[in-house]
Amino acid sequence: MTKTFKSQIIFTCSNCGAQYPKWQGRCLECGNWGTVGEDITTEPEAVKQLISADKPIDLSSLSGQKEIRIPTQIKELDRVLGGGLVEGGFVLLGGDPGIGKSTLALQLANNIKNILYVSGEESAEQVKLRADRLKINLNNFKFLPQTNLEKIISTALEIKPEILIIDSIQTVSSVEASGSPGSVSQITACAAKLMSLAKNNRITIISIGHVTKDGLVAGPKTLEHLVDVVIYLENDNNNYYKIARSIKNRFGPVGEIGVFEMVEGGLKEISDPTSIFIDKDIDTSSPGVAMTMIMEGSRSFLIEVQALTTKTIFGYPQRRSTGFDLNRLQILLAVIGKYAKINLGSHDIYLNIVGGFKIKDTAADLAVIVAILSAFFEVPLPRQTLTLGEVGLSGEIRTVAQIEKRLKEASRLGLNNFLIPGNKKTAGLKNINEIIKTFKK
Ligand code: TYD
Ligand code: MG
Repeated sequence: MTKTFKSQIIFTCSNCGAQYPKWQGRCLECGNWGTVGEDITTEPEAVKQLISADKPIDLSSLSGQKEIRIPTQIKELDRVLGGGLVEGGFVLLGGDPGIGKSTLALQLANNIKNILYVSGEESAEQVKLRADRLKINLNNFKFLPQTNLEKIISTALEIKPEILIIDSIQTVSSVEASGSPGSVSQITACAAKLMSLAKNNRITIISIGHVTKDGLVAGPKTLEHLVDVVIYLENDNNNYYKIARSIKNRFGPVGEIGVFEMVEGGLKEISDPTSIFIDKDIDTSSPGVAMTMIMEGSRSFLIEVQALTTKTIFGYPQRRSTGFDLNRLQILLAVIGKYAKINLGSHDIYLNIVGGFKIKDTAADLAVIVAILSAFFEVPLPRQTLTLGEVGLSGEIRTVAQIEKRLKEASRLGLNNFLIPGNKKTAGLKNINEIIKTFKK
């Protein structure tokens, strides 16, 4: 005898997915009018009875093949991906409108054998114009202007592309989901369907996603949980460079960055970015300047830290910082006061990281202290000095991760004086009170 299960009626907002026991005109979660509609769920008890035990897979019996990589031939991108795209992987390429996502997607299409480019945003003529401008080889390139997900999937199953590009996930919609394109319910449903297309047919999918004004792709990070790889394309603070950054990668490391510049012919790779944030010759011979070497993923960047100190004219001394955390600056100033015995209480202090870089690496602590002291005493550092080290609350100078690599890069760029932490084997600085000698003669 077949058993019928009791169903329950609930009301779901098609925009944000919030659920209510009663209908209402306005969603209390997202504030939209007219988006709450009737939905039917099966009672949990009934669902339980439906489910029979499943047999787990014995992983040790699997042969364990390595993933198959598809290099894009764009080195900066391949490194961020952890060595290229992965067959059957689902990549989300996010970023602000106009940053260059479509351009990057087109450029990587140049080196792929069989590509299906689906656009809900641009016409065939527009894409053709851009592809010509970027000098893309269009022999293996198939274009589909479509926003219906079911049609996209059928086309992909017929063409069996090596790579499917969806530009953008916010424009596609599934007939099986409620809500308008770009709503959370649509994006979640589309992403889940695309994921199973990728996994079941070993089609690599790159989905472009716009970052909304809250800085997230489609609501509360919905998409990021679903996909294998999340790469964001962002501007550096000066808008000179475009930086691709992996924030999630099931097939490789995160935190890697790739650096590009947008030029006439599209995104150009900056393959040696170590000194891109320094625009003049490396020179530490004016007071208040210190050079340090920062790591982002496996990449090193030479960064110039500048400080200015002036006597406070009125009231409370000012502490201002661009590119360096103000709280950390306050801590370092307290350490200077206590352990270097320098009273900065009657001085305004301004700190600037040149080139618009935002420092998160604590290896820059010592450079910040040195730049401030150099400004305060009006004594420049010796020419070509690299300053490196994390500073602790008792004034101790600690070593930093990947120090050999940083020093090697610095030497390559011609820096030959080092203010760096010492360890048991090598001589070097142990506490910031040793730094004072450099400035007080
Ligand atoms: P686009 O890739 O369309 O951005 P997104 O898809 O992220 O919205 O392009 C962004 C900008 O790049 C656009 O303002 C024009 C510029 N651009 C160039 O400067 N050079 C080029 O060769 C191309 C194709 C675009
Ligand atoms: Mg675009």
